[in-house]
Amino acid sequence: MSTLRTTASGREYVLPAAPAVSAELAGYEIRRHYELPSQFYALWLDPTMAYTCALYEDGDELGRAQQRKLDWLARAAGVREGARVLDVGCGWGGMLQRLVQEHGVSEALGITISAEQARFARERCAGLPVAVLVESWEAHEPERPYDAIVSAGAFEHFARDRASREARVATYRQFFARCHRLLAPGGRIGLQSVAKGGARLDRQAIEDFRVVDEAFPESAIPWPAEILLASERHFDVRECVFHDQHYVRTISAWLERLAAVREQGVAMIGEERFELFVGYLEAARRRLLAGHATLMRLSLRRI
Ligand SMILES: C[S@@+](CC[C@H](N)C(=O)[O-])C[C@H]1O[C@@H](n2cnc3c(N)ncnc32)[C@H](O)[C@@H]1O
Repeated sequence: MSTLRTTASGREYVLPAAPAVSAELAGYEIRRHYELPSQFYALWLDPTMAYTCALYEDGDELGRAQQRKLDWLARAAGVREGARVLDVGCGWGGMLQRLVQEHGVSEALGITISAEQARFARERCAGLPVAVLVESWEAHEPERPYDAIVSAGAFEHFARDRASREARVATYRQFFARCHRLLAPGGRIGLQSVAKGGARLDRQAIEDFRVVDEAFPESAIPWPAEILLASERHFDVRECVFHDQHYVRTISAWLERLAAVREQGVAMIGEERFELFVGYLEAARRRLLAGHATLMRLSLRRI
């Protein structure tokens, strides 16, 4: 059970002392980011609770653009009615719900390394053919293959920060090898990830890297070429688009919404942590605008 406690700096959320996850997952520092109360994220994310770049068309507000992104990924993964689909890094379950309700899949399974996200996702998908496991992709062994895999915003957490390029690509290759094994012939992955951009670093950029690293410990942003290289011989890249301006717009919408709920947000997670969110979102937006980061969406077909 998580609790709220009162400290000198105000009320703050205290993480569960003994989270209900396996010993392997206890070592994933990044879990702390996703174990914050779901109600905090619900305050400022749109109703899909997507916490990744949206896909805008003229006239879209955040919620519509998030639905459009979910549909883009479903199409990129070749999702059809009656399909069995895996969502790697399912967050609070918005994609799982949409896969069933809008795309008619017969079974949607989500994996997340956060017990709190899994609890929330199970609750929101109650009564639907959806299952959610607290598990890393490295350990996922389903009974039957999937027809399609989707994944948004999880790839950035797969390799460790400070890992060499060789080590990063080796980890990504393991991910694609596992997806290959988990997919039926002809299956596809609809993948979305932040990736590095090659703009020259300056002082501001180095500080922005530090701020984002603090919010997302033990994570490593891949270079675009690393994703492509690691997928070789397991998957053919059928589509690859760069949507950094969509992410700038998404983050701007989040920042506006966060500002509007500041008081409630601070009451839920404490001022220091709230400011960390605002600071890392501003830094992430600057990185995109300056070309130090980009946003990739891919459709990968199993070979
Ligand atoms: C930025 S959130 C994105 C959630 C959701 N896909 C979305 O679009 O809102 C990243 C997700 O990746 C998950 N994740 C991180 N590392 C993972 C791993 N090794 N295996 C499975 N999921 C992982 C986290 O638990 C979280 O649900």
